[in-house]
Amino acid sequence: MSYDDAISALSNDALKYVKNNNVVGLGSGRAATALVKSLGKLINVKDYKIIGVPTSMQIKLIAQKVGIPLVEADQVDFIDVVFDGADQIDSQKYVIKGGGGALLRENILFSLAKKVIVMADKTKFVKNFTRTVPVEIHPLARSSVTKSIEKLGGKAQIRSLDRGYPFFTENGNIVLDCDFGTIKNPKVLSQKIKQTPGVLESGIFLRKPDVIYRAKTGGKFDIL
Ligand code: A5P
Repeated sequence: MSYDDAISALSNDALKYVKNNNVVGLGSGRAATALVKSLGKLINVKDYKIIGVPTSMQIKLIAQKVGIPLVEADQVDFIDVVFDGADQIDSQKYVIKGGGGALLRENILFSLAKKVIVMADKTKFVKNFTRTVPVEIHPLARSSVTKSIEKLGGKAQIRSLDRGYPFFTENGNIVLDCDFGTIKNPKVLSQKIKQTPGVLESGIFLRKPDVIYRAKTGGKFDIL
């Protein structure tokens, strides 16, 4: 039994938060992919009418494959429930997101959501954040934001693909992965990052999830 077994088991359990006719936010990544596949069963087996709101092309392709009708975030006034993965979760239940570069759209969906459900494996749970914080910025703000991040005590590195090509988000922006060491006060740090001109989104989300699923070994999971 692996991580995938646990994610698939918790994805089936998480379907209890979905009601017929709900608008459902679809995060990006492996956990969100497992959830979307489970959601397909509600539509195809139980005949649920659900509308999905994707956060990336990655999840859009999976959702289309399982037959979930989709709209974009600007076509809805609210989202009943958002399901998403996380890159790290601290003891205050703040999350770092953006490992896949979908942070801007993910946080828009979090802000529209009545309920946010995050699913992650146990290695991502920490007392204080230790991983780099993805920051989506306008390409022309590369130097200025890099300096601002240094003033905040961090070290920014532009995210690159193989062979050094810069990674561009689906919004045409770039991502700086910012190393702040151990982060004791994520709320203040995120607020300061977001105040910087040229920053479109910080990977430290200030909306805490309403439900957190933790995948464990042996195909098991618990809910925090
Ligand atoms: C996408 O930008 C991210 O926020 C993902 O949701 C995050 O990286 C979690 O992905 P996994 O579920 O694949 O670990």
